[in-house]
Amino acid sequence: MAPSAQPALLTSVSSDEKYANVKWEELAFGFVRTDNMYVAKCNHGEDFQEGKIVPFADLQLNPCAAVLQYGQGLYEGLKAYRTEDGRILLFRPDQNGHRIQAGAKRLYMPYPSVDQFVSAMKQVALANKKWIPPPGKGTLYIRPILFGSGPILGSFPVPETTFSAFACPVGRYHKDNTGLNLKVEDKFRRAFLSGTGGVKSITNYCPVWIPMAEARKQGFSDLLFMDAATGKNVEELFAANVFMLKGNVVSTPSLTGTILPGVTRICVMELCRDFGYQVEERVIPLEEFLESDETFCTGTASIVTSIASVTFKDKKTGFKTGEDTLAAKLYDTLSDIQTGRVEDTKGWTVEI
Ligand code: COI
Repeated sequence: MAPSAQPALLTSVSSDEKYANVKWEELAFGFVRTDNMYVAKCNHGEDFQEGKIVPFADLQLNPCAAVLQYGQGLYEGLKAYRTEDGRILLFRPDQNGHRIQAGAKRLYMPYPSVDQFVSAMKQVALANKKWIPPPGKGTLYIRPILFGSGPILGSFPVPETTFSAFACPVGRYHKDNTGLNLKVEDKFRRAFLSGTGGVKSITNYCPVWIPMAEARKQGFSDLLFMDAATGKNVEELFAANVFMLKGNVVSTPSLTGTILPGVTRICVMELCRDFGYQVEERVIPLEEFLESDETFCTGTASIVTSIASVTFKDKKTGFKTGEDTLAAKLYDTLSDIQTGRVEDTKGWTVEI
C-alpha cells in the first residue's frame, strides 16, 4: 500500500453528508486520511504566517530539512469530541499550545503563539467535522507538528519552520483497555536527565521500538520504563504517564525533565484531589510501585487505563482492575467532561 493510501476502514465520502462514510464500530487508533490540514510557515527571525487550511496532501520537503537531518521536530496530540446534543468540544487545547512552546524552546525552534495554536486546532477540527465520530464511537485525534523544514547541513539556525496539523478519527489506543499487562524494561531507557524526555520531541519514540516490539511478541501490552540514572525508579510507559494508589494516597513520578508533562496527568491529579485523595509527585521506586493497591496510566490516547499486571524479571505482579477501581472512576469522570455529558465546571472544554 502506498504510504498515504486509505485503509479499508473508509468506504466513501460525499461533501454534503454530516458524517464521512466510516465504519465507526471498527475504528482503531491509526492513520485515516481526512479532508483538510493546517499549514503555517515561519522564516528565521520572523513571526509565523497566519496559516491556512489546505486539502490534506503529502508535504513537500527539502531532503536537507532540519527535521530529516537532525530530528528537529515536535508533535502534539489532542482530541475533538462530538456531544450528544451536537456540539463539538476540544479538550484543553491551550495546554498543548503551552507544551509545544516549551518543546520548541528546548529544540531551538520558533513557535506559534498559544492563540494561533488554539485557533489552528479549531480550524482543523471544523474543516474535518464529518470525520468526528458520532458520540460514543470514538474521537477526532488532532496531530499538530512543528518541525524544521528549511535546509540545514552545517550551521544553524534553521531558515524555515513549519507548523502543521492534521486529524484522524480514532478509537481506543490500548486494545486491552480493561487492563494492561506491562513488562519492566530493564535495558533500554526512554529518557535521560537534561535530555528531551520532558518535551514531545519526535526523537523520543522510535528509539524504544526495539524493546516494544520484543515485548509485544511476548504478549505484553506496553513497557514500563525506569529512570536512566539508577534504573530503579518508575518513569512512564511508551507514551503514557503512570500512577499508583496505596491507601488514600495517589502517587505519580515527579517531573524531573525525563517525564512528559501530560495534559491528562494534570487533570487526573486534580480529579483525585476532588475525590478526597492525597496526591503526591515524587520518586517512586519499582519495589514500592509493585506493592500498590492499584496502578493505571494516563494520556491523551490512553485516557485512563488500568494496569492489570507488571512483570519484572519473569515475576508477574497483579493489580486490581474493573468497575470498582479509581481508574474506572477517573475514566468515567474525565470522559463525561470531555464528551459534554456533564457540565464542565472546570473550564477544560472549548466549544467550537
Ligand atoms: C498521545 O497520547 O497523544 C500520544 O502521543 C501517544 C501516541 C503514541 C499515540
